[in-house]
This record gives sequence, structure tokens and C-alpha cells, in this order.
Amino acid sequence: MEALRIYLWILYLCLIIYGANSDPLEDKRALLEFLTIMRPTRSLNWNETSQVCNIWTGVTCNQDGSRIIAVRLPGVGLNGQIPPNTISRLSGLRVLSLRSNLISGVFPADFVELKDLAFLYLQDNRLSGPLPLDFSVWKNLTSVNLSNNGFNGTIPDSLSRLRRLQSLNLANNSLSGDIPDLSVVSSLQHIDLSNNYDLDGPIPDWLRRFPLSSYAGIDVIPPGGNYSLVEPPPPREQTHQKPKARFLGLSGTVFLLIVIAVSIVVVAALAFLLTVCYVRRNLRHNDGVISDNKLQKKGGMSPEKFVSRMEDVNNRLSFFEGCNYSFDLEDLLRASAEVLGKGTFGTTYKAVLEDATSVAVKRLKDVAAGKRDFEQQMEIIGGIKHENVVELKAYYYSKDEKLMVYDYFSRGSVATLLHGNRGENRIPLDWETRMKIAIGAAKGIARIHKENNGKLVHGNIKSSNIFLNSENNGCVSDLGLTAVMSPLAPPISRQAGYRAPEVTDTRKSSQLSDVYSFGVVLLELLTGKSPIHTTAGDEIIHLVRWVHSVVREEWTAEVFDIELLRYTNIEEEMVEMLQIAMSCVVKAADQRPKMSDLVRLIENVGNRRTSIEPEPEPELKPKSENGASETSTPSEI
Ligand SMILES: *[C@@H]1O[C@H](CO)[C@@H](O)[C@H](O)[C@H]1NC(C)=O
Ligand SMILES: *[C@@H]1O[C@H](CO)[C@@H](O)[C@H](O)[C@H]1NC(C)=O
Ligand SMILES: *[C@@H]1O[C@H](CO)[C@@H](O)[C@H](O)[C@H]1NC(C)=O
Ligand SMILES: *[C@@H]1O[C@H](CO)[C@@H](O)[C@H](O)[C@H]1NC(C)=O
Ligand SMILES: *[C@@H]1O[C@H](CO)[C@@H](O)[C@H](O)[C@H]1NC(C)=O
Ligand SMILES: *[C@@H]1O[C@H](CO)[C@@H](O)[C@H](O)[C@H]1NC(C)=O
Repeated sequence: MEALRIYLWILYLCLIIYGANSDPLEDKRALLEFLTIMRPTRSLNWNETSQVCNIWTGVTCNQDGSRIIAVRLPGVGLNGQIPPNTISRLSGLRVLSLRSNLISGVFPADFVELKDLAFLYLQDNRLSGPLPLDFSVWKNLTSVNLSNNGFNGTIPDSLSRLRRLQSLNLANNSLSGDIPDLSVVSSLQHIDLSNNYDLDGPIPDWLRRFPLSSYAGIDVIPPGGNYSLVEPPPPREQTHQKPKARFLGLSGTVFLLIVIAVSIVVVAALAFLLTVCYVRRNLRHNDGVISDNKLQKKGGMSPEKFVSRMEDVNNRLSFFEGCNYSFDLEDLLRASAEVLGKGTFGTTYKAVLEDATSVAVKRLKDVAAGKRDFEQQMEIIGGIKHENVVELKAYYYSKDEKLMVYDYFSRGSVATLLHGNRGENRIPLDWETRMKIAIGAAKGIARIHKENNGKLVHGNIKSSNIFLNSENNGCVSDLGLTAVMSPLAPPISRQAGYRAPEVTDTRKSSQLSDVYSFGVVLLELLTGKSPIHTTAGDEIIHLVRWVHSVVREEWTAEVFDIELLRYTNIEEEMVEMLQIAMSCVVKAADQRPKMSDLVRLIENVGNRRTSIEPEPEPELKPKSENGASETSTPSEI
């Protein structure tokens, strides 16, 4: 603690000596004027005498603390009109979020002064009147959300001149007139004009490429024509250039410590100059040293709760190269979160960021590895780029909190698709899709097994860790964690139904035990049953044993999911898959096939079927039955 104190004190001196820490006094004054007039119902800690940067709730400065670049005050009960000549004086502002307040009046005309504005969130207020005529003054505008207000008038043409616009939400206003042509805004990824009932149809073609919900509630009946949605929209190219905003700051308590330390010794300052800057560099490197923060429990992370814990600003997420997200830990904590599931190694949340991106955040419990080992493992996992492996986007490590950030899959896992909603409204999972899941997952796992000189183990294969990628192929997630987690012994282990018999604790997982777990997933796909389930008589059924017993007693057809029996001509394929699955779940680990062989075997099952259907390419001749059975695995059947 003492060392840390000195460390930080030196850092502070360094900042003083560099003269860079002059609080942005002008910006501060502007914000105080804004606050005095707006009178939020929730009290903010904006004390005139305290430093602004990273102390004041919802305010973020640039790196050298000379300008305020972000003001985020969602849901604090701001009331009335935004006073002119207040916010607009923050000319370095890039992010302005005043959403979910009670702000009334017209769109503040003086916002034109905010030339650097990139993210503007004023949704869920009571603003009214016309939208600004000339949007092109905000050249950097990236994301605009003005939904759920009372704006009227037309949608300005000038929006089409924004070259960086990615997201535009004008839903639930009273806009009218023509829809301008925004097809030239190639960066646009998300648009919502819905429920502006006075907008004129027809819906232009460029808008039809977006989901129907983007223009719901607009008068679509074109004057004397008809449109069909038959033509599929061309795939939208992802653009990645969201401007990144990274903030370096100090936390409240830490700041106090610094002030105490500084007041003790001021004179010695100059002598330290050289050491000091060296240390500063180091400190920046060791991000997270001063962390002492906690995410809230279940579903927490609301902006309201977040605001009192500014120390989080200090810690960064580590992103992997090529990642197109532009959020920071702060945004993540600010995001609304919903529990997706509790897994073997922790709870996964869905977090919706302010720009509407959804990510899955896994919060690990019982990490045994130290920071360096953890980071090393994350680098290995994050380095895998494969269409059948869910990409790790970022991670975070501090003493109290370890997070992993993945893409979010809206359709849920294979477990949900298979076992979820078995009631009346169930959408059956067809054979085709199940095969694509199997092939995709096999390819993904085979790829993982190649990593780290062919030594990487997935360690947690189960249907709830397999998702459907954009091509509806299986895509595996949650890999490589057994190496960094505390070992879980069988009774505790929640992956019991998938665990190979030789695995006595999770650290003993191997590539061959992965094959076993994958075999259980295949059995799940074939039977539609969970790996461990109870019968009506409360008998616990272990899927692998059950399949063995059914097959032994030769009621093979009973094994398969009833849902699959409606499809004709797939019985042979199902039996072949069953053989493959059973070769994976044999007791003797060394007799199980390798993942790379499995890919070939499963693909063969699928290939033969496609060749039964009329094939345009003549070289794809149907294989003979003999040829195919040679490739199938010896099995216990
Ligand atoms: C502002 O901070 C000073 C000391 O830094 C304190 O005396 C004062 O009570 C604070 N004012 C408010 C309104 O919190
Ligand atoms: C826009 O962003 C760029 C870089 O992100 C920056 O250099 C520029 O100053 C910003 N402002 C304007 C008005 O272009
Ligand atoms: C917008 O609403 C205001 C009153 O709320 C009204 O005076 C004005 O005429 C409206 N403008 C348009 C274009 O409908
Ligand atoms: C618009 O309002 C409807 C109904 O109140 C709501 O369901 C929808 O989510 C709103 N749209 C947006 C973008 O907030
Ligand atoms: C609607 O479009 C179809 C095909 O484009 C055309 O055959 C049909 O005549 C059109 N109907 C009307 C009422 O214009
Ligand atoms: C905009 O605000 C609406 C209403 O709060 C919200 O539903 C939507 O997710 C926000 N973001 C975007 C990018 O539209």
C-alpha cells in the first residue's frame, strides 16, 4: 500500500511538472452553469472545488486533462430546456449522452459548435420541433439516437453528407415528408425510422435492405406500384472505423491519497523529474494495479448504479487486433445487462452497449492463474480466428474481476435450440441444420486442437457452448479455460453429462476427452435428449448409457429424436452419425477417433446426401455404398 501511494504520488508530480494537468476550467464552468439551470433530481458530485477530470460523475477528459471529451448523464432527471451557451462551450466534446431524462424544448441550435461530436444520444426525452437542418457540421458524427422524442418536420437531406454515420435512430417521433436518400452513406449499419407515421412512402430501395423494423409504421403503400421483398438484400459490408476513445484517469480515493502525499512534499518535486516519468510509463503499462472494483451481481450494471464507482475508469479491457468494437470497461459497466446463463466457469451476461451493439460478457469465477498466465492463455484463445470458433474480442483481468467479451448470438445456443421450448410453439430443428451444427463444431474443435503446437484443449464442450454462425454452421465457444481455472472435481462439475470417464477433475481434460464430449453433443443432436435427464419416475438417465442400452436391445429407431422421424431418406445418415457418435464415447480414450478424422467422417455423411440430390457439377458423382461404408468408423454396435 505504501509503495503504491508513493508510486501514485510520483505520478501526480509528473503530471504537475508536465503542466498538462490544468483542469479544463472553462469547460468546468460551462458544465456548472448547465447543472445550475437543469437541476437534476439525482445529485451529482460536481463540486466546484474538486477536480473535474475523472472525478465528476459522467464526465471524461482527454488524456492530458485539458478538455472534456465526454458527458454522459443518462437517467439523472435533468429537467427543462438545455440552456444556451453551456454544453456548446465544450468544444472538444465527442460523446454527449443525455438520454432518458425530461429534457424539453427544441434541439439546441448552438450544438453546431460541437464540431467533434461523434456520439449523440438524446433519446427518451421530450424534445420537440424540427431537427437541425445542417447535420454536415458534425463531420465525425457516428451514432445518433434521437428516438422517443417529439421532433417534427422533415428528415434533413444533409444526413447524407455524413461520411462516418453508422447508426441513426429517429424512431417514435412525429417526422413527416420524404425519406432522404441515405444510400450514399456507405458506413451506415443501423437505421430506425419506425413509427413516424407521417413520413411519405414508398419505402426507398436502400431502406428496404435494412430489417423491416427499421421502417415499421411508415405509410408503405407506394402510389400505384408494388414492391416485392423477394430479392435478398446484398450482404452489408461491415465497416470498422469507429473512433476509439480511451481514457486514462485516476479514481476518487486514489486522488485523495495523492493530495495528502503531495501536500507533504512539494519541494522535492524537481529532483524526481527524471525518475518520475519513467515510473509513469511503467504505471501505464501495469494497468489494473489500482483496481478495486466489482461488477454488480446479477443483472446490475445499470448506469445509475455505476456512477458512484468511477474507479472503474482506470481499468482497460484488452482488445484483440482487428476487433471492431469501440467500447471500454466503462461502457460495459454502463450497459444494461441480462443474465444469459450460469456455466461451468462463471456467469454469462448479455450487455447492450449505448450504440446498440450486443456482446456476451463472461464473468469468470475461481480463476487460479495469475495475471501473466491468464493473459498468455487469453492471447492463445484470442489468436484463433476461425469461422467455427466464437471469437474472443476482449478480456479483462484485475484482482477481483476477470471478464471475457465475445460476440453475442441472438438465437441462443444449440442447447436452447434442441431442448428449449419443447412445447406447442416449438420450431423443430431439422436434420440439415443438425448436420451443419455437427460439421461446424467438429471443424472448430479440430482447429482448436491444432493451436499451441497441437496441445490446446477445449475442455468444456457441450451444446450450450455451441452456437450457429452466420452461415448456420456450428461455432464453438468457451474454450481453453480449464488451464486457468481452479480444478472442479466431478461432483461439483456441471459438465458431468459430457465428461469423459477418465477425467477426474477439469484440469485432466485432454483432446481425447474433448472427443468424448463432442460425441455426447452428437448423441444430443440425434436423440434430442439432454446428456443427463430424469424420467417421469425420477430416474436419472445418463444419455451415453441410455443410447448403449437401446442400441444393444436393437430398438435402434427408438433412439432418434421423434422430430427427425418426419423427414424421409435420412435414416441411413442418422445411423451413420450414431455410429460416429458412439465411436467418440468409447471408454478407452485411445480408441476414440481424432477430431480431424471426425471432420472428414461427418462431412462424408453429409456429402453423400447432397450428391443424391440433383447436382449441377458432373464431377460430383454419387459415391457407391461400399465406398462410403469403408470410411465409417468401427463401432460398438
Ligand atoms: C465541495 O468540496 C469541499 C472540500 O473540497 C467541501 O468543503 C464542500 O462541502 C463540498 N461541497 C459540496 C456541495 O459537496
Ligand atoms: C474528427 O476526427 C478526427 C480523427 O478522428 C479528428 O482529427 C478531427 O479533429 C475531428 N473533428 C473534425 C471536425 O473533423
Ligand atoms: C411542429 O410542432 C410545433 C408545435 O409543437 C408546431 O408549431 C409546428 O408547426 C410543427 N411543425 C411541423 C412541420 O409540423
Ligand atoms: C417506439 O415505441 C414503441 C411503442 O411504444 C416501442 O415498442 C419501441 O421500442 C420504440 N422504438 C424505439 C426505437 O425506442
Ligand atoms: C405487382 O408486381 C408483379 C411482378 O412484379 C406484377 O406482375 C403485377 O402486375 C404487379 N401488380 C400490380 C397491381 O401492379
Ligand atoms: C436508441 O434509443 C432507443 C430507445 O431508448 C433504443 O431502443 C435503441 O437501442 C437506441 N440505440 C440505437 C442504436 O438505436
